[in-house]
Amino acid sequence: MNSSKIIDGKQLAANLRKEIADGVSRLKADKGVTPGLAVILVGENPASVSYVTAKEKACAESGMLSREIRLPAEISEAELVAIVKKLNDDTVIHGILVQLPLPKHISEKAVINAIAPEKDVDGFTPVNVGRMMIGEECFLPCTPHGIIKLIEFSGMDIRGKHAVVIGRSNIVGKPVAALLARRETNATVTLCHTGTPDVSHFTKDADIVVVAAGHPNTLTGDMLKPGAVVIDVGVNRIPDATRPKGFRLVGDADFESCEKVAGAITPVPGGVGPMTITMLLWNTLESARRVANG
Ligand code: GUN
Repeated sequence: MNSSKIIDGKQLAANLRKEIADGVSRLKADKGVTPGLAVILVGENPASVSYVTAKEKACAESGMLSREIRLPAEISEAELVAIVKKLNDDTVIHGILVQLPLPKHISEKAVINAIAPEKDVDGFTPVNVGRMMIGEECFLPCTPHGIIKLIEFSGMDIRGKHAVVIGRSNIVGKPVAALLARRETNATVTLCHTGTPDVSHFTKDADIVVVAAGHPNTLTGDMLKPGAVVIDVGVNRIPDATRPKGFRLVGDADFESCEKVAGAITPVPGGVGPMTITMLLWNTLESARRVANG
């Protein structure tokens, strides 16, 4: 018996991208400003190449300027930092994104710290993270922001609910837990991680489960309370000889068993992924608006 509803991230992303494209047109017409995003990719990690290609395409479709900077894996940290600093001073660029992960010899911290906070549309700099934590104006990190929008789109009123987040990464787990606990959303939040002895003890009581652990089958249907909303952030490649590329994508939740118990669930692909890119465009438009309005 399949009772759960698929949360269509592509549909929500399309709705928001229409609004963003309208915003870009208005900003061009009223202020003569075209939002510009610089995307830096170091090396040729296949997953990163496909993310970056999708970001550039989305940027162009919304009417923004997209500057693609592809660099060899051997580039030094100092050279990369110098490129970022040059973009900080480039007035046609309103957002800078350095695709992670970076090659091992480069400190991600050093590179992220070099991005000017007012161009940090990923919301990764310590200044933005700090502002988010204390409720000041900032760029919200894209995937966590997209997750909040997806839960709202599912029809669930987050206020007063118990949300369980599985995974404590700086990109997803920690910030999404912080956003869910803000006064606006008012959820009670449990953050589970590799040190949690029995994750199902918490998920069985959860109205919302966000799974961002980086492993398939982290969440199964028997771990859920009936009717829970499940947001699956995982993107895992599983070998599959029947597919043209030789693999298929699965999330961190076992979709088949979770779908039978959940009230609503995001698919992989087509759930969180399109929303991450959409919120990046949202932040880039916001950054350009701030510049245009002084
Ligand atoms: N790598 C995986 N997700 C992201 C993201 O949202 N932004 C950047 N810059 N790198 C990533």
